[in-house]
Amino acid sequence: MKTLIVYYSRTNVTKKIAEKLQKELDCDIEEITDGGKYDGKIGYMKGGMNASMNRTSDIDPITKNPSDYDLVIIGTPVWASNMATPVFTYLIKYRDQIKNMASFCTCISGGYEKTLERLSEVSGKTQISQMFLNAKDVENPEEKINTFINEIK
Ligand SMILES: Cc1cc2nc3c(=O)[nH]c(=O)nc-3n(C[C@H](O)[C@H](O)[C@H](O)COP(=O)(O)O)c2cc1C
Repeated sequence: MKTLIVYYSRTNVTKKIAEKLQKELDCDIEEITDGGKYDGKIGYMKGGMNASMNRTSDIDPITKNPSDYDLVIIGTPVWASNMATPVFTYLIKYRDQIKNMASFCTCISGGYEKTLERLSEVSGKTQISQMFLNAKDVENPEEKINTFINEIK
């Protein structure tokens, strides 16, 4: 199964999980970037506002076409109990090119249920598997990652 991991990460937490998954699955990976629109304190506030209002914002051009893959795994940090704005933007733009989807999110403590629901809702795809990792989980993610990978396979 040809698999692509697509993720956004503001402070590298989601990135670390995405990279671990990529190593296990030996698949392609694409980071959503936007020139650091949400960096710093002002970026944090802007992110919270945009995510809670379901706004999109510009992202850099992608390098991998999701329609070339059997499965796209989307990774996002939780922003105000929602997916991060760059991930929302990606899904709005490319959801019609995704055949099958799985998703995961990272958070400090909460808002992951709604975020995972939104990922299904916005993509319009039944998720093959979903996973969340809170701040404690990310210190020791192997077990959750293994379960997620087994569900995908
Ligand atoms: C704008 C914004 C809103 C956030 N909202 C939540 C939240 O609702 N619940 C939560 O547990 N963490 C929240 N967080 C924390 C992040 O989800 C968490 O630190 C995440 O693991 C960061 O991932 P990253 O380093 O890949 O960006 C928020 C962070 C930002 C920047």
